[in-house]
Amino acid sequence: MDFIVSATDRFEGRIKVPGDKSISHRAVILAAVADGTSRIAGLLHSEDVLATIRAFRQMGVEINDVADGLLTVKGVGPAGLKRPHADVDLGNSGTALRLLTGLLAGQNVEATLTGDESLRKRPMQRIEEPLNQMGARVAASRSGVPPVRIRQSKQLQGIHYRMPVASAQVKSTILLAGMYASGETCIEEPAVTRDHTERMMATFGYPCRREHHRICLDGGGTLQGTNIDVPGDLSSAAFFIVGAAICRGSRISIQGVGVNPTRSGVLTVMRRMGARIEIENRRNAGNEPVADIIVQHAPLKGIEIPPELVSLAIDEFPIIAIAAACAEGDTVVRGAQELRHKESDRIRAMVSGLKGIGVQVEERDDGMLISGGVVQGGTVNSFGDHRIAMAFCMVALRSIQPVVVLECDNIATSFPDFLTLAQNVGLDVRQA
Ligand code: S3P
Repeated sequence: MDFIVSATDRFEGRIKVPGDKSISHRAVILAAVADGTSRIAGLLHSEDVLATIRAFRQMGVEINDVADGLLTVKGVGPAGLKRPHADVDLGNSGTALRLLTGLLAGQNVEATLTGDESLRKRPMQRIEEPLNQMGARVAASRSGVPPVRIRQSKQLQGIHYRMPVASAQVKSTILLAGMYASGETCIEEPAVTRDHTERMMATFGYPCRREHHRICLDGGGTLQGTNIDVPGDLSSAAFFIVGAAICRGSRISIQGVGVNPTRSGVLTVMRRMGARIEIENRRNAGNEPVADIIVQHAPLKGIEIPPELVSLAIDEFPIIAIAAACAEGDTVVRGAQELRHKESDRIRAMVSGLKGIGVQVEERDDGMLISGGVVQGGTVNSFGDHRIAMAFCMVALRSIQPVVVLECDNIATSFPDFLTLAQNVGLDVRQA
């Protein structure tokens, strides 16, 4: 499915974006192995989260859709998952595959986890290594990609692990295994990464200790079923935030968005570029900070994005690149090699897409230099990556000619209502 997007003279309205993907995965995962029933409101019903739900159903967990966005999960307790009879297919979702590997290794459930063509290219050594240090028997394919096989092992031992990459997925994988290990498990991260697992574990009554870059827990505890409210996904809101920032005369208000400081780097970056962003009505949903975000058009300028903001905005670089293309002057991204290991090689995908719409851009190993100015429009390959596809739809708000975005099907992995919501606030987007 390809989209054609044309310039529009109106981009405004009050919207709600669907539930946070990272938090939705974690809510289902922890609820599945908790004691008692959990109710999850505002869950994201996207392909990625459905893959997690299907995986747990395959392992004997009863999960029911009660009403719009409300899910009940009957926890099977810490040792209650059943061995899946077939390979578990996690589609496009790296989070699901990595976190489930940690959980199943901890619980000593034999399984083979796999996914689609994109997921079968993503690095798994980063979880294989620490889990096997704990005593698990986890093996990816010879080239270090899925399928990942988990075999029976002895009781896991807690480890003290310094992560070579700043990855919340790796951290969460180790924490989930650590719940089942004997003794203490501690992880040191090279840069702050999203802390949804730690917060969610606390909500389920399992304490994690946190000091700066170090997160520790003791194995052998249990999770108590609970009620969770999933906030709106800042990563989905980011497309509308940048859309409003680059489109003359626009104003968008987004209600109930998660603004966890370990995730909100995009707001810092956009403000430094000159965006007019107001945060109102700050509150808490469960253990997560939530707010309304109001954005109006303002002229943007290029900046050097400090590398310490990279892990706090890791999923937002596709749309930040669009802001940079519409800004005056150069924007430099450094220290962002991790972008090459996402749903696509996002450095390559952004560089190729920007060139396709007439933007000057220089590719670097760990980032890129984007020279902002006039955007011509043209055809862009999304490489089947949901965030590349949505980002390039938004650039049509400023391009001279329409933008054709190829391969948009995977938008459904994170934001199934994107097309309708974008049309509702005035984006002229339709299927080609
Ligand atoms: C995620 C963590 C990030 C992010 C991904 C979701 C999570 O990956 O890119 O979309 O839910 O933990 P890394 O932590 O591996 O960088």
